[in-house]
Amino acid sequence: MTGLRVDASRLWDSLMDLATLGATAKGGVSRLALTDLDRQARDRVAGWLRGAGCTVEVDGVGNIFAIRPGRDAKAAVVLTGSHVDTQPSGGKFDGNYGVLAGLEVIRTLNASGVATEKPVGVAIWTNEEGSRFVPVMGGSGAFAGVFPVEKILAERDIEGVAFGDALVAIGYKGRVPVGGRPLDAYFEAHIEQGPILERETRTIGLVTGALGLRWYDCLWTGQDAHAGPTPMPARRDALRGAARLIEAVHALALRFSPDGRGTVGFLQVAPNSRNVIPGSVRMSVDLRHPDDAALAAMDAELHAAAGAIAAELGLACEVRQVASFASCRFDAGCVGLVRAAANAFGYPHREIVSGAGHDAIYVARVAPAAMIFIPCKDGISHNELESARPEHVEAGANVLLHAVLARAGRACAKR
Ligand code: GLV
Ligand code: MN
Ligand code: MN
Repeated sequence: MTGLRVDASRLWDSLMDLATLGATAKGGVSRLALTDLDRQARDRVAGWLRGAGCTVEVDGVGNIFAIRPGRDAKAAVVLTGSHVDTQPSGGKFDGNYGVLAGLEVIRTLNASGVATEKPVGVAIWTNEEGSRFVPVMGGSGAFAGVFPVEKILAERDIEGVAFGDALVAIGYKGRVPVGGRPLDAYFEAHIEQGPILERETRTIGLVTGALGLRWYDCLWTGQDAHAGPTPMPARRDALRGAARLIEAVHALALRFSPDGRGTVGFLQVAPNSRNVIPGSVRMSVDLRHPDDAALAAMDAELHAAAGAIAAELGLACEVRQVASFASCRFDAGCVGLVRAAANAFGYPHREIVSGAGHDAIYVARVAPAAMIFIPCKDGISHNELESARPEHVEAGANVLLHAVLARAGRACAKR
């Protein structure tokens, strides 16, 4: 094993520096996709990558590619990366860690005078979170050809702002065509966002795949009416329909235990007035399962539950699927490189399936890919309290460095 190691304090400092952009009072980060804070984060990280000698290119949906040339100018790039957008009440590590671990790989290669045969790159994918604009992982999905570019650019946020206009406003509508860039391989480092590694005191998760996901918008329609004069049996209360469906989603996910997941995280109540019976409610549903047939069965149960509740309460309910991806298995060869690197450092590890969506899931459709997980405190993520230990942050980046290097090949050491 080469003695090459990342500089743990340099990586930690870059994470803490980036976390000042959108810092929240509780120690988290709020940096929604394509806001001015997203622009500031992109500018800052792209500046660091340029400072590390990379060429930086931006594609037509705002994905950023920073490339450190290899000895073989024609070779496909060994890419790493993640995202710098966050949830509205997000943390310092989700996404940001994968990008800055990639930067740290480049800085370590530079500091050690290591040239590689193939180019090594860092990607910052646009709108991974899917919080401001649906679909989730929109930038990497467009890169992989899953979504037409026009569809992504036309998506609107809750205020009606188009993705394409927001992209232009922050100056990140690039000229490089979306997709078609040959990749040798893709590795993404990320916090686990769940409790397994911490519970088992393992430092590294060898991510073998990810749960499939379906997202829905459900629109309940009843009738606005006065809260006082309207007798209880005469009401068509859309919020009751939503409330019943929230419970039904929880119960159906439990029926698909232990791997099924069901969440309602977004509600819009209209007219949202204390003395008006709500006539309309829009709500999200997020269903996940590692088995695609089970996910299809969950989908059928969701539709059946919504239909039954609507009929019983005299409401209408439209259930519209707005995003989905099938369960994914990562490339065995790339997972093997992650395992070999973890073994070489003596880091305790285990195989793990990702419950979360990640850009690697779409990139895996166009290149061999794998992910590296590190533990996070109490398994908590999508939360301002999200936290990871410096030694785990370092370990994941060391594994990333060596997986990338194994694939990119050392050309020779400079004197
Ligand atoms: C992405 O953050 C997801 O929803 O899994
Ligand atoms: Mn993420
Ligand atoms: Mn996330």
